Amino acid sequence: MKRRDFIKSVLTVAALSPLANNVANADSKNVISFSEKEKTMKVLIINGSPRANGNTSIALQEMDKVFKEEKIETEIIQIGMQNIRGCIACGNCHERGKCVFNDIVNEVAPKFEQADGLVVGTPVYYSSANATLLAFLQRLFFSTRFAKTMKVGAGVAVARRGGITATYDELNKFFGISGMPIATGQYWNGVHGMNPGEAKEDAEGLQQMRTLARNMIFLMKAIKDAKDKYGLPKKEDGIVTNFVR
Ligand SMILES: Cc1cc2nc3c(=O)[nH]c(=O)nc-3n(C[C@H](O)[C@H](O)[C@H](O)COP(=O)(O)O)c2cc1C
Repeated sequence: MKRRDFIKSVLTVAALSPLANNVANADSKNVISFSEKEKTMKVLIINGSPRANGNTSIALQEMDKVFKEEKIETEIIQIGMQNIRGCIACGNCHERGKCVFNDIVNEVAPKFEQADGLVVGTPVYYSSANATLLAFLQRLFFSTRFAKTMKVGAGVAVARRGGITATYDELNKFFGISGMPIATGQYWNGVHGMNPGEAKEDAEGLQQMRTLARNMIFLMKAIKDAKDKYGLPKKEDGIVTNFVR
């Protein structure tokens, strides 16, 4: 392939991929699975922290308790200590439907496909999600072809003091570009704590987590009912304008 064609194809993949997930697949598979009335709802919970029992874990466990009370199936996957490299824009995933680097990203992808909801929790590092989590999410969302539309997303940021809302916005952007409705709580989803365990003292933050989980369950159930009743919204073929000449 000529260099020019390669660059063009990579740019096209970059522009198309998240949209293509929403547009091209038309969610036909999801319609069928969601109309199975007896299906247990599943929430996949990603923890970006390297600290197994850190404050992000405390925040996510608080949500998990509510999910369990409401008979929602959950799986928590902690990715913060994994060696996860960033996307290299090779475009290989466009052909294969999975990332060229066969690591935790490809392991989690089928679990994400099966899930009705995705919770992503991260410690705040320099007013952002931590780098390992960002590498994970960018490759996960970019490399997967399955439809994400109407899976419910929720982002949770955990910090000593600052950067929670910036990080919350950052996480929500993954859901926004994927046609995923965003569950909200009673505030911007964040919990405070510095040393592992301190988040347990943030009563308001933990209450937010419980509210967020309940709202997420409501949204997932409402979407399931709406899908059964009305089907998914009509999708147009994607229009991609790259603003390059
Ligand atoms: C590299 C690094 C950068 C951090 N940056 C911030 C920050 O910008 N704002 C903040 O409030 N806390 C910051 N922290 C503190 C963590 O967000 C805080 O300790 C949090 O509880 C970690 O969550 P965890 O226990 O789940 O890992 C930083 C910590 C590290 C290690």
